[in-house]
Amino acid sequence: MDSFDLNSYLFSKRKQINQTIDKIIDQTSNSSVVVSAMRHSLVGEGKRIRPVLCIAASRAVGGQTEDVIMIACALEMIHTYSLIHDDLPAMDDDDLRRGKPTCHIAFDEATAILAGDALLTLAFEILSSIEPADKNNALKLLRVIDTIAKAAGYKGMIEGQIKDIAAEGKQLGLEDLEEIHVLKTGALIEASIITGAILGNGSFEQIEKLKIYAKNIGLAFQVTDDILNVEGDPVVMGKNIGTDQAREKSTYPSILGIEKSKEFAKNLVNNALQALEYFDKKSDPLRAIAHYTIDRKR
Ligand code: IPE
Ligand code: IPE
Ligand code: MG
Ligand code: MG
Repeated sequence: MDSFDLNSYLFSKRKQINQTIDKIIDQTSNSSVVVSAMRHSLVGEGKRIRPVLCIAASRAVGGQTEDVIMIACALEMIHTYSLIHDDLPAMDDDDLRRGKPTCHIAFDEATAILAGDALLTLAFEILSSIEPADKNNALKLLRVIDTIAKAAGYKGMIEGQIKDIAAEGKQLGLEDLEEIHVLKTGALIEASIITGAILGNGSFEQIEKLKIYAKNIGLAFQVTDDILNVEGDPVVMGKNIGTDQAREKSTYPSILGIEKSKEFAKNLVNNALQALEYFDKKSDPLRAIAHYTIDRKR
């Protein structure tokens, strides 16, 4: 198709993201156990897909990595906090994440709750301490913070998580399941893309197209998470499989079966790629990531 090398792109962007995260955590470093717990969950084998998407969306509209790297890292902190809480006994009760014991297993429940809280707060500390080189971007930055807060909050990810938990043991219809997936996973993925595009100075039209891209890959990403929970390799994924069925969660495979779920996800990716037709070669990373959301093994 094209010669864009996603593996080396992901390698280099993850490296930049990880170095920046290390620096941020070092700055906040003290000997507190909560900082050790934050580090435990943050550092390591995460795919970093949200920060990479933020950087790639900024690039697609002509922006540079340097302009969004702090936002990208803040997004990863919010995501990591959501994983720590998602794994708690009161929620999905998982003991393996990113190839390591989950935070509450490696530490204890109270520490895990507080490490999650601290990562969420740190994200907003980072976001609110960015000083834009161009003062005209201060308003854009406020829009970015607002977008992220809404996506992570009670009308976004949190709403998805509470609906996900409430649905355990019930047989959902596709519409209700889609709503949960769009909220619990799609919202933060969409915010990652849109905030990258806002700070990259994307036009209204570009941002509208990227919203379509984001909605489609956000849902495709969670459908694939459902599929991997059935047929993935836990060693590669660094988390357990079969847990959705064990907790009686409704998932795409449980409603549609594996093959139809894959077909559905593929259609979503095609919709996302269509929305990118509006962009030039600078959107190649976004194009490749769209394929990656469903081809990934972890
Ligand atoms: C897992 O997210 C939880 C979902 C929202 C599907 P990721 O698959 O991005 O997990 P990491 O960050 O790579 O560990
Ligand atoms: C996670 O969804 C969504 C959030 C953490 C917001 P899942 O519970 O389906 O993800 P995994 O499978 O544990 O990674
Ligand atoms: Mg969950
Ligand atoms: Mg979970």
